[in-house]
Amino acid sequence: MAEEKKLFKVKIDNISVEVEPGTTILNAARSIGGDVVPPAMCYYSKLQGSGGKCRTCLVKVTKGSEADPRPMPKLVASCRTTVMDGMEVANITSPEVQEARKGVVEFLLLNHPLDCPVCDQAGECDLQNLSYEHGAEATRYEFKRRTFDKIDIGDKIQLHMTRCILCYRCVFTADQLTEKREHGILGRGDASEISTYIHQSLDNNFIGNVIDVCPVGALTDKTFRFKNRVWFLKPVDAHRHCDDPKCCGKTVLWMRGDEVFRVTARKDKYGEVEDFICDTCRFDKKEKSDWIIEGPRKIDRHSVISQGHYVNTVKPKDPLVEVLDGRQPKLLFDIHSTSEVNRPEIDLSKIEGPAHSDDFNK
Ligand code: SF4
Ligand code: FES
Repeated sequence: MAEEKKLFKVKIDNISVEVEPGTTILNAARSIGGDVVPPAMCYYSKLQGSGGKCRTCLVKVTKGSEADPRPMPKLVASCRTTVMDGMEVANITSPEVQEARKGVVEFLLLNHPLDCPVCDQAGECDLQNLSYEHGAEATRYEFKRRTFDKIDIGDKIQLHMTRCILCYRCVFTADQLTEKREHGILGRGDASEISTYIHQSLDNNFIGNVIDVCPVGALTDKTFRFKNRVWFLKPVDAHRHCDDPKCCGKTVLWMRGDEVFRVTARKDKYGEVEDFICDTCRFDKKEKSDWIIEGPRKIDRHSVISQGHYVNTVKPKDPLVEVLDGRQPKLLFDIHSTSEVNRPEIDLSKIEGPAHSDDFNK
């Protein structure tokens, strides 16, 4: 008879859970779920070697183990620390952890350009969400922020180095998913930057996944850039039969009307890609007819884009009809034909490059 595996008993924020030896504190917390799960900006369960870079997942180990109950002297990165039997951990119940996380967020934002109003990642940015939850209201930083020479990394992916938090996810993605890695982190200390050596473009198949794994707006989709805000789009699950055996062909289409503005992989509640997709599905299949649409995507994570998709909404009773003596006012109209904002012959999703003032009526 197979020997039964001994599980380790762990307590996180006073909630008990049993996990296999070798499980990290972060994954033990994820098996509990909810608020006790520490945020993670660099760890990515699908990428080997990820974690240990950003320190947002710090927690306090108040009891090391049953055998050695001494607490750990410093806060530890929960994505890189494995559990011990009898370990007790404090995350949201520790003011020290909350204070430290606030410091980490301040540190991550030190050189950040704070350009959310013009950033394509706004609304689905992990750093934006993190700073709303754990950040301070104002910055104490008074010095000049870091800037970088702009580099062109190809016609599909846009790099904004000033937004990068050096989490290494894109480097691991290129290493583990594509045939050949063309980029990495060059330089040291505060001169470190994501770059290619010497100017190359990132165009290996599957490289588009760096856009999905990037927790901030440092790597964005050039085919979608400045065409729409994500919260105006309707995410729907869709699939197609993809010839690439490595590609699952299961995606989310971000649509407005019948226009497909962008295609992304499906993400779970921790913002991690469920299955990686190839570049053909991501960049070249922008027609509704390319896809079999399954239905509205439920975005099960904390973000602006999980709001306002009006699935199963119960509408309140409309009092206007009563007030107007049974007459039906015409409240819905086609904003496009009424305001004539876009030039009618233009599909914003199909124009080359960012949308420009010339694409709108003056
Ligand atoms: S570009 Fe994005 S994914 Fe790559 S290291 Fe910077 S923040 Fe991380
Ligand atoms: S998620 Fe643990 S250090 Fe970044």
